[in-house]
Amino acid sequence: MKPFEYGCVVKGEVFCPRPEIESILASNMESGQNTVVVGERRMGKTSLIMAAFSKTRKCRLLYVDLLNIRTIADFCDRVASAASRMGRGQTFLQKTLSFLARLRPTLSVDPHNGMPVVSVDSRLAENVSSFDDIIAMIGRFSERERVVVVFDEFQEILKLDNAGQALATLRSKIQFLSETCFVFSGSVRRDMVRIFIDYNSPFYKSAATLTVGAIDDDCFIDFLQRRFAVGGRKASRDFLLKVLETANRVSGDVQQLCDAILTETDGKEILSSDDIGRGIERILKQESSAFEMQTESLTRYQMKALLAVARIGGKFVTSADFIKRAGLSSAPTAKRALGALVERGILYRHEKEYKIFNPFLREWIVRIS
Ligand SMILES: Nc1ncnc2c1ncn2[C@@H]1O[C@H](COP(=O)(O)OP(=O)(O)O)[C@@H](O)[C@H]1O
Ligand SMILES: [Mg+2]
Repeated sequence: MKPFEYGCVVKGEVFCPRPEIESILASNMESGQNTVVVGERRMGKTSLIMAAFSKTRKCRLLYVDLLNIRTIADFCDRVASAASRMGRGQTFLQKTLSFLARLRPTLSVDPHNGMPVVSVDSRLAENVSSFDDIIAMIGRFSERERVVVVFDEFQEILKLDNAGQALATLRSKIQFLSETCFVFSGSVRRDMVRIFIDYNSPFYKSAATLTVGAIDDDCFIDFLQRRFAVGGRKASRDFLLKVLETANRVSGDVQQLCDAILTETDGKEILSSDDIGRGIERILKQESSAFEMQTESLTRYQMKALLAVARIGGKFVTSADFIKRAGLSSAPTAKRALGALVERGILYRHEKEYKIFNPFLREWIVRIS
C-alpha cells in the first residue's frame, strides 16, 4: 500500500482515526438517530462514515452515492443498485427486484467491477410516488435488522426539477421508518444548510448534525509521521505543521501534498521546509491545465476578487482597504464578484470569511498574476 492516498475513500492504515466523531456517528447509527454530516469537500466525510459504520454491531449498510443524479428515476436506480449489493449472494438482489416490481426493474452488470446494476423503468419512476416504493423497500429490509442508509452527496437532490416536492415526500416517508438510521452527507455547505436548517425546509429538525472539519493537529501529525516513515522519510513536527497550513488542513489536500513531497524527495531521508515548495511545484504542474479551465471564463472583476482573496485573505471584503487592494470599484462590485465565485464552487464562505476551496489553486493564482 502507498504511504499516502487521496481522491478515494480511505480506511485501515491510511485512515487517521478520529475517535470522537467516529463514536458519535457510530452510536447514532446503532440507536437509529438520523444524522446530517456536513463538511467541505475532501475533509473526509465518506471515509468517516465508513469508519463509523465498521464500529457498529448488528447493522447493515445501504450506501447510496447521489453524485450527478438528474432525475427521480436516477435516484431510484442508485438506491436499487445499492440495495442489491447489500449482502453477498443473490438474496438482496432478488429481494430488491421483487420489492420494486411495480417500477419494472431490469438487471445488468457493471463491466468495471462485475457488480449488479439495477435500473427502473424511467417512465414509471419519474414521479415522486416512486419514493413510496423505494422507502417501502427500505422498510422491508429494516424489519429483520437495523439498516443504516447513507445518502452521500445529498445536496444533489436540489438539482432535481421538482426538488422541493421530492424533499417533502422523502421527509414524510422517512419519518415513519423509526428503526432505520438515515445519514445525509453533503459537501456543499450552503446547499446542505438550505435543506436542513432553513426553517421552511421540510427536513428541519429531523436529524442531528455532525460537522466534519479538520483532523486534530496532534493526531494528524502523528499519523503523517508514521506514513512518511513507511516511505523511508523523517518528518519533524514543525515541518508537518507547515504542510498542514499549506494545505489548509483539508485532509485530502494534505495527503496529496505529502504524496507529492514523497515523490519529489526520492533518496532523501530527513525532510526540510523547501521540500514543501517542491511538492507544491509538482502539484501545480499536474493541475495547471485544470486550473486554467476553471478560471478562463471568469470576468475581470471576478478574477481580481479571486486574486485579492488569494493574496490577502477573504475577511472584511467590503472594507475600503480590501476594495482598494483588489482594484475593485465598490463594495457591491466586490460582493457580486465574490458571490459569483461562490456560485462557481471556487470560493466558499466560512464564519464570515471567503476562502478558496483548493489551496493549490490559491498558490497557482498568486504565481500567475
Ligand atoms: N481520517 C482520514 N485520515 C487520513 N486521510 C483522510 C481522512 N479522511 C479523509 N482523508 C483524505 O481525504 C481524501 C478524501 O476523503 P473523503 O472521505 O472522500 O472526503 P469527502 O467525502 O469529505 O470528500 C482521502 O482520499 C484522504 O486522502
Ligand atoms: Mg465523499
